[in-house]
This record gives sequence, structure tokens and C-alpha cells, in this order.
Amino acid sequence: MSTKTLLITGGAGFIGSHTVRLFVNKYPNYRIVNIDNLTYAGNLENLKDVESKENYKFIKGDIKDTNLLEKLFSEYKFEGIIHLAAESHVDRSISGPMEFITTNIIGTVALLNVAKKHWEGEYSGKLFYHISTDEVYGSLDDKGKFTETTPYNPRSPYSASKASSDHLVRAYHYTYGLPIIISNCSNNHGPNQFPEKLIPLAINNIKNNKPIPVYGKGENIRDWLYVYDHADAIDLIYHKGRIGETYNVGGDNEWKNIDLIRLLCRIMDKKLNRNPGDSEKLITFVKDRAGHDKRYAIDFSKLKKELGWGPSVDFKTGLEKTVDWYLSNSSWLTSVCSGEYQKYYDRQYLKR
Ligand code: NAD
Ligand code: DAU
Repeated sequence: MSTKTLLITGGAGFIGSHTVRLFVNKYPNYRIVNIDNLTYAGNLENLKDVESKENYKFIKGDIKDTNLLEKLFSEYKFEGIIHLAAESHVDRSISGPMEFITTNIIGTVALLNVAKKHWEGEYSGKLFYHISTDEVYGSLDDKGKFTETTPYNPRSPYSASKASSDHLVRAYHYTYGLPIIISNCSNNHGPNQFPEKLIPLAINNIKNNKPIPVYGKGENIRDWLYVYDHADAIDLIYHKGRIGETYNVGGDNEWKNIDLIRLLCRIMDKKLNRNPGDSEKLITFVKDRAGHDKRYAIDFSKLKKELGWGPSVDFKTGLEKTVDWYLSNSSWLTSVCSGEYQKYYDRQYLKR
């Protein structure tokens, strides 16, 4: 069994925490170092079950801090990086783009520079794996899906910042030979997602009998994937993906927002012993998101053909598990919804 030390960035966030858990538990011979500066979206509670494992180390730090990265690379001699740290919420990028530019672009370049410096001349066995999003491809009409060769056409400050970071990661591969892989995934749902995102926000509001804000007419379409399946894809791509390649990851699971919210309402009515139709009464159509991308859909046939990956959980089963997790983790929900988040919520929704 090979031993190696991996750096995972953004491991206290939603997808990052599932990725850290999977690697710490599945590869006891790896040492996993998680760097996260614990923004509003980062939460060490997400990793309680692995925090005392011997092969796990948490470092509170910013990926833009080159001195810290230098120190960590010298100390730990990382052989791989799985880069998830980012500002990730589209609505926040609309009201305040600058954090997205600094973290998602400059932070990624800081990591690339330090990796290049420490690995140059010894690229064999090293990998910089950049986790990205399907939003870089832009917005689809009714037909077609995003493939790995779909031209980039990002339309929000968030997706533009992720697209820039993807381009820079590829530039370091072509220019300096840095061994990289990029994956672009569709919308995730599951435990520990910050309740600013549609599914946990709706679960939380339904639970508390608050209006469920649906942007526009609710006709925008997203392709949903259970977060554990994304973490499995990350594991597979990290170990078996081809250097220099891009892999799309998706759920083959398109839902109009309004249909998804109605399904969620039906599930919640049952779980909360409400009368059928009670939760749907909370649906409230609000002002649309600026530049709202109409439809995302991922063609993941490359990943399926090359590495045999596919979603393992059907959507309704996964969504029920997601709902169960939020209902049985009320204290997590209450604690992340207190303080700053309440101010964000009021700014974002009370004016709509
Ligand atoms: P998240 O917002 O839940 O977590 C982001 C984490 O990064 C947080 O723990 C935060 O503290 C940390 N972070 C932010 N800025 C940092 C900095 N400067 N230095 C160190 N840590 C920092 O995000 P997520 O939804 O888990 O997404 C993780 C990654 O996956 C992102 O790169 C995102 O673009 C990508 N992605 C997300 C989805 C999705 O549906 N959520 C889908 C596809 C791709
Ligand atoms: O596609 C992958 C992307 O998915 C990731 O890169 C992003 O990090 C992640 O946040 C997510 O982006 P979206 O903008 O698609 O997710 P969000 O949960 O914010 O919104 C999903 C859909 O629901 C979108 O069409 C907007 C709509 N929406 C969202 C919120 C928060 C509402 O109708 N009401 C809401 O209150």
C-alpha cells in the first residue's frame, strides 16, 4: 500500500468535508491535511467524526497566504492536492464579486505557484486536482448537454471566477508541465450544505413554516447529484484519471426548480406528519436572480466510459436521505443559521 500526504483545500465546507471523510477513512495509509480559513461556509462540526484520526490534520489558513503554503509544502511534502476551497454561492457573487476574484482566482494561482515551485523537476507521482463546476459552460436552452469540449461561457461573477481558475490550472499544465486534472460537476445536495443553497434553504423554511422563495417562475433547470456520489467521483478521478484531462460529473437528473420544490414539499409533509399540500402553500415566487442561467445538464459519458463512474443513488432516495439528515441535525442548522447568516438572509430575501 502506498503512503502519501495529500493537501485538501476547503475541507471544512460542504463537498470538501465529504471528500476529507472519504479519504481519511478509506486510505488510513494516507496523511490528509485540510487547509480551510473557515469562512461562513466552513464548519469544523462537519468533520467531528474524523478530527481525532491519526492520519488527519486540520490547518486554519487562507489559500492566498503564500508564506503559509510554502511552510506547509516544506513540512509535509505533499504529493497531491485536491483543491475545493472557493467562494461558492452565485447570489453572493452578484452582491459582492471581489471575494470571488481573490479566493477563486488569486487563491488558486497562489496554490499553483507553490505546487510548481516544490514539484518542478519531480512531477512524477504528483497531481494538482482542481474541483470545478458545470456553470463555467454557461446556460443551455431546452436541448443538449455540456460535454468536456463545450466552449466556456460563464455568466455570473461566480462562474466567471471558476472559469478563470480552470483556465489558469490548464495554463500551468501546458506552460510548465504541472500535472493537473479538472472535474466540472453539476449541483450537489446532501448533508452539511450551507442553507443559502436551494435545497437546504427550502428544507429549513418548510420546517419552520416560512415562505419558500422560488426565483422567477421556477422554470430554471438544474442537474442534481447526491454529494456522496461526487466524493466517490473525486476519489476515482484522483486515483485513475488521466493527467491533463477534464472530466464532467453529473446526475443525469434534470429538475425544474418548481418541480423539485413540490417534490420536497410532498416528502416533508410526510416526514412532518402534515396534511398533503400543506407545505406547498409556502411556495412564494420572488424576483428572479440577475442573469439567471436557464438550464444545466451534464454529459458524463467520458467519466463513465473511462473510469466506470455513475451515480449510485436514485434522486428521490438521495433527497429523502438529505431531508432526514437536516431534520435530525436541527442543532447544526440552528447554529449555522444564527448571526451573520440571518443578516445575509434578510438582505437577500426581504427586499425581493
Ligand atoms: P462551500 O462554500 O460549502 O465550501 C467552501 C469551503 O472553502 C469552506 O469551508 C470555506 O471556509 C473554504 N474557503 C473559502 N475561501 C477560502 C480561502 N481563501 N482559504 C481557505 N479556505 C477557504 O463550497 P462547496 O459547495 O462545498 O463547493 C466546494 C467546491 O466545489 C467549490 O470549488 C465549488 O466551486 C465546487 N462545486 C460545488 C458544487 C455544488 O453544488 N455545491 C458543484 C460543483 C462544483
Ligand atoms: O451547478 C453547480 C453549482 O451549483 C455550483 O458550482 C455552485 O457552487 C452551487 O451553489 C450551485 O449553484 P446554483 O446557483 O445552481 O445553486 P443554488 O442552490 O443557489 O440554486 C439552485 C437553483 O434554485 C437556481 O436556479 C436558483 C434557484 N433558487 C435558489 C435559491 C437560493 C431559487 O429559486 N430560490 C432560492 O432561494
